[in-house]
Amino acid sequence: MRILFIGDVFGRPGRDLVRLGLPVLAARHEADAVVANVENAASGAGITRETGEALLKCGIDVMTTGNHVWDRREALAYIGAEPRLLRPLNMSSAAPGRGAYVARLADGRPIGVLNVMGRVFMPPVDNPFDAAAAAADRLARECRVIVVDMHAEATAEKIAMGWHLDGRVAAVVGTHTHVQTADARVLPGGTAYVTDVGMTGPHDSIIGMERAEVLARFVTGLPSRMEPASANPRLQAVVIDADERTGLARAIERIDWSLDDISAARRTVDDERAF
Ligand SMILES: [Fe+2]
Ligand SMILES: [Fe+2]
Repeated sequence: MRILFIGDVFGRPGRDLVRLGLPVLAARHEADAVVANVENAASGAGITRETGEALLKCGIDVMTTGNHVWDRREALAYIGAEPRLLRPLNMSSAAPGRGAYVARLADGRPIGVLNVMGRVFMPPVDNPFDAAAAAADRLARECRVIVVDMHAEATAEKIAMGWHLDGRVAAVVGTHTHVQTADARVLPGGTAYVTDVGMTGPHDSIIGMERAEVLARFVTGLPSRMEPASANPRLQAVVIDADERTGLARAIERIDWSLDDISAARRTVDDERAF
């Protein structure tokens, strides 16, 4: 089973990248399932029903989130109505929604998705290591292939989660920093790992926001109003190849596509169709 995992979709540029790039990316990599972190999909902060439905329509099977999940108040109601939208499972039990989901592919094959959040430089949550291990054990009764979104700031905490779950899940992929890391690999126990998948959004920015306001904030220490950026949109993702008999990974590959790369791939697909 091949799983495409798309890094934090940021604002309209991110949603446009998914709409334009996802079909051709999924076709080229023969993706069976698509997971995307959507915590920044609505204007860079949170998720709405409208943006969520538009992303699902593009071919996303499961949407994960993180600390920005409640930035839009309507997400509190939307998450209850949309089981394909996850929030970190180690949030308070009072939070609506769920942190785990078993999706069914068109042919009925199951894939489990877990969403957890780290605790270092992040809002307080329960122990993600205990939560992820317990949830992985529960999901394993329903499905062989399990993918974990470890939404966290600190590289050490994410790497620790990779080792914690090595041999127990198909993949542990990091999100949240919006910077793709070059450490994608399959760990010795058979779990695909990357510290951060990156951001699907505007890269001439400061992790998605217009540079001037964020820079002013750092330089002057004064508050400033941040606006989502738009320049240099790039689709960042990983493709995981998982063995459905063992539930472990064979390979993980990083994706970093500009709009030009997407256009070129679309032309290739069109050319192939013409023959
Ligand atoms: Fe994010
Ligand atoms: Fe985040």
